[in-house]
Amino acid sequence: MQLTFLGHACVVLRGSKTVVIDPFVPTGFPKDIKPDAIALTHAHGDHLGAVRDLHAHVICMNELAHYLSGEGLSTDPMNIGGTIEHDGVSYTMTWASHSSWIDTDGSGKYGGSPAGFVITMDNVTIYHAGDTGLFSDMRLIGELYRPDIAFLPIGGRYTMGPREAMMAAEFVGAKTVIPIHYNTFPQIGLTDKEVLSFKTTIERTTDLSVTLLKPGESVELS
Ligand code: NI
Ligand code: MN
Repeated sequence: MQLTFLGHACVVLRGSKTVVIDPFVPTGFPKDIKPDAIALTHAHGDHLGAVRDLHAHVICMNELAHYLSGEGLSTDPMNIGGTIEHDGVSYTMTWASHSSWIDTDGSGKYGGSPAGFVITMDNVTIYHAGDTGLFSDMRLIGELYRPDIAFLPIGGRYTMGPREAMMAAEFVGAKTVIPIHYNTFPQIGLTDKEVLSFKTTIERTTDLSVTLLKPGESVELS
């Protein structure tokens, strides 16, 4: 399976199917990527992104699914702790310590709980934490689902910063950690030194490795 980071929190999984998580791409969602399904961690605009333009099946929190299906999108509602299978891909919704708000013109709407996802396709399991603070039940996610790779937010302010995310990486225990949700906007900016120290500290103190991906870069897993 090929995993491509498109920037911010957007990750594309390409194997027997093409799945996109949180299709917000600062430079615009690439026209040549046609997802079979989209997993949304929560309703904030920097995660919904191009969801309305991609014409793919959307898997997300019940309240958000209800709202998007009202706009005519094809949706699969679920909630935290549940697992569904769609097109041979399995999606488990996990807890995220954050908020969720659908930004409509002037008056927002409650988006239901924010979430993370554990997704298994072609025998590869990934964990995308969504937007979240650190929580100790990340250990359970690690123990139960044994993800091969973890995408963790490190930009601070709205989510964990590098310090918290180092502990998150240990809790989850995925062999490969890919940091996301930083440097997209000045408010979540990190210095090169901070990002590098996230990587070197984890690699010095654990047997995990951190892969830093620039938008558009991929890793292969089998
Ligand atoms: Ni958010
Ligand atoms: Mn966000």
